[in-house]
Amino acid sequence: MRVPDLSSGSKGIPGRLSAAATACATKATSHSCAGCSRGPPTPPPADDLTSPTLAYHWLALPARRAQEVALAVGWATATAVTWQLPGGLAAPALRERGWADVRRFNHLRGDLNPNTVIPTTPPEVLVDTATTHPQARKVHNVLEAALAGHWEHRPKTADRFLADERAAVGHDQSLWFLAAVAGRPAAAVIARRLPEQGWIGWVGTQPEHRGRGLARLLLTTAMTELARRGCLQAALDVDTGNHSGARRLYESVGFRVEYQADQWRFTTTTSVR
Ligand SMILES: CC(C)(COP(=O)(O)OP(=O)(O)OC[C@H]1O[C@@H](n2cnc3c(N)ncnc32)[C@H](O)[C@@H]1OP(=O)(O)O)[C@@H](O)C(=O)NCCC(=O)NCCS
Repeated sequence: MRVPDLSSGSKGIPGRLSAAATACATKATSHSCAGCSRGPPTPPPADDLTSPTLAYHWLALPARRAQEVALAVGWATATAVTWQLPGGLAAPALRERGWADVRRFNHLRGDLNPNTVIPTTPPEVLVDTATTHPQARKVHNVLEAALAGHWEHRPKTADRFLADERAAVGHDQSLWFLAAVAGRPAAAVIARRLPEQGWIGWVGTQPEHRGRGLARLLLTTAMTELARRGCLQAALDVDTGNHSGARRLYESVGFRVEYQADQWRFTTTTSVR
């Protein structure tokens, strides 16, 4: 199975969070909630065993399922993941069963306007879409450098990253934007056009290029392009523990917090049945 990448705020809280004890997300938005949209998990193929994390989005099943799949594929441990609204009714039951709430995320939404004023591009900066394979690899490099050290960021090879992105709903490399400073890749944004809205999947600026407006430049470029393609709004998720100014950046271009959601985890070992 594909493992949703939950390693940073940009990957997505499942779309409809329920405070009730039965579910986290009954209507999966395709950006990350693979468990909801694809039905009961099956063991991953032999070539897909790169992550010890299994993400299942059912409150009643995930811990057991995680253990079953871990056993099936020979992992020593597996972690089940679910999402709940803060203070949700399921919280005590989850805690009682050994789950822990590990991180709170903000879900932000912003209106899009095709006439948004994009900041002036400084002369040494070149902004381009990453439609070719070499450019896409540069986007991957920039994002890996930008996200290194962030909570739960698990580096991926370029091939793995690109394969995961291609599998995401709304994937379109003409919505990938790369800023180069004096010819060197410095910042990147990956946007997607979901059926109902635009989605900002990744935003990153290499540390040595931060604070010069590159992320805002790329973000407004992506937002404007989404608007031109008919999206009225865009959304994104950001980890509340992100201290790199991401939320302020998003708010500065019009995003506002719509709701928060807590990620809960349960780690199971295959030695305990
Ligand atoms: C968040 C991030 C993308 C900002 O990139 P950047 O190119 O430095 O951002 P910009 O220079 O365009 O800044 C635009 C605005 O963001 C805010 N901002 C950026 N960095 C900030 C910081 N360290 N502290 C506070 N606000 C900050 C400011 O509002 C800034 O506006 P200003 O120029 O009026 O001060 C960058 O720090 C980064 O790559 N962080 C790690 C990856 C990450 O967390 N990505 C987002 C979540 S997935």
